[in-house]
Amino acid sequence: MNLLRRKPISEYLNNMKNSQLKKTLNALDITVMGLGVTIGTGIFVLTGVVAARYAGPGVMLSFVLAGITCIFVALAYSELASTLPVAGSSYTYTYATLGEIFAWIVGWGLVMEYTIGAAAVSVGWGAYFTGLLKSANISFPALLTHAPVEGGFVNLPSMVIVWIVTACLIIGVRESAKLNRILVFIKLLVIFTFLLLAGPKINTMNYEPFLPFGWSGVSAGASVIFFAYIGFDCVATAAEETKNPSRDMPIGIIVSLLLCTILYISVCAVLTGVVSYKMLDNAEPVTYVLRSIGYNFASALVGTGALCGLTTVVLVLIYSQSRAFYAMSRDGLLPKIFSDIDESSGNPVKVTVVIGIIVSLMAGFTPIDIIAEMTSAGTLCAFLCAVTGVIILRKKHPELHRPFICPALYIMAPIGIICCLYLFYNLSFYTHLLFFTWLMIGLVFYGTYGYKHSHLNFLNKS
Ligand code: ALA
Repeated sequence: MNLLRRKPISEYLNNMKNSQLKKTLNALDITVMGLGVTIGTGIFVLTGVVAARYAGPGVMLSFVLAGITCIFVALAYSELASTLPVAGSSYTYTYATLGEIFAWIVGWGLVMEYTIGAAAVSVGWGAYFTGLLKSANISFPALLTHAPVEGGFVNLPSMVIVWIVTACLIIGVRESAKLNRILVFIKLLVIFTFLLLAGPKINTMNYEPFLPFGWSGVSAGASVIFFAYIGFDCVATAAEETKNPSRDMPIGIIVSLLLCTILYISVCAVLTGVVSYKMLDNAEPVTYVLRSIGYNFASALVGTGALCGLTTVVLVLIYSQSRAFYAMSRDGLLPKIFSDIDESSGNPVKVTVVIGIIVSLMAGFTPIDIIAEMTSAGTLCAFLCAVTGVIILRKKHPELHRPFICPALYIMAPIGIICCLYLFYNLSFYTHLLFFTWLMIGLVFYGTYGYKHSHLNFLNKS
């Protein structure tokens, strides 16, 4: 068995030329897509918990630490996405650089990032939705809003949002991108509203002590808060549908990541400046802080905006999963149904439906806590392979045209790798266990299906 066989670069160039996906997206769409998928549960839900339990006001530094890791990774992704602008993101890059078995591992890990991530965020959406209805004195029976192990029967709101988002994606990428723009605009508006209303109420006494749990709290917080950055890499999956990917991809990836980092740190500064970090141990810190300073109406508005924000995360995660599966199926590692394109819409409709069903079942019937950490594990695995891949591609194919070049790659990439390993190491024991179990299942599937059906078998024979 040749597990390290690589897909030749000429094949990628062929794929790019013969792609059936429609090229409709521009740099603004890509940046908005990045903001759409990145800003969500991390800032609207996790920030408070991390401040209260791990880092205190130092949660800002946790965001800086996780953000620095992502910036190294984003530079690597930008070089790869501009050099090989094909669907599939880190899976595709790994196939060209580290070889098939690693590509499979990354593709399999991406399922944790995209599918499980989408389910996790949908459950967050359901919780925000029922919370908002409750504040308007409308309540749903618990049986229909909780998963079975939480005492309910099905988490219906979380399932419904997945169906709606899936339907949008089936209707069309261009239309979904338009909807995404509107929802991202609302999401940014509520964040700025929050900063403007609550910012003036900062009391610097609340920043004392700044590091109540010391530096270990800051770094443990960074591993949890890393979830907030997940997604900026998703936009690379859209490379094949972008009009001018060599230019638009690096702009989209880097600008969206920088904007997110600035917004995250600003929100944390306001949250921990307005109330004591000890008060933030709840699932809706942003609306809680607004209520605590008497802005009840604004709090409800911001809650609604958060709902829009979470919708865009689910939308782009499902989109990204469909494109990652599309790329894997086109290479023969998954059955062909995953890369069938519907002729009239130019979209991979079948795979989108399959993913929508899986995500909605997970969102409806599983509890969420550990799942969120699994999302981080899958993402870090993909990041590690992509950053390693960019070094290999430079060495093996120095001749390729690189519209974007990662500056000081041989310093940046090793630091990125060390940061990713550190964050992975900090995840819980259960997450490590689940991750490696998932990996084993994937390797069995690869051994029994993927290896035999890989198109490289036919390439090598011809
Ligand atoms: N970064 C995304 C979020 O925070 C996954 O919801």
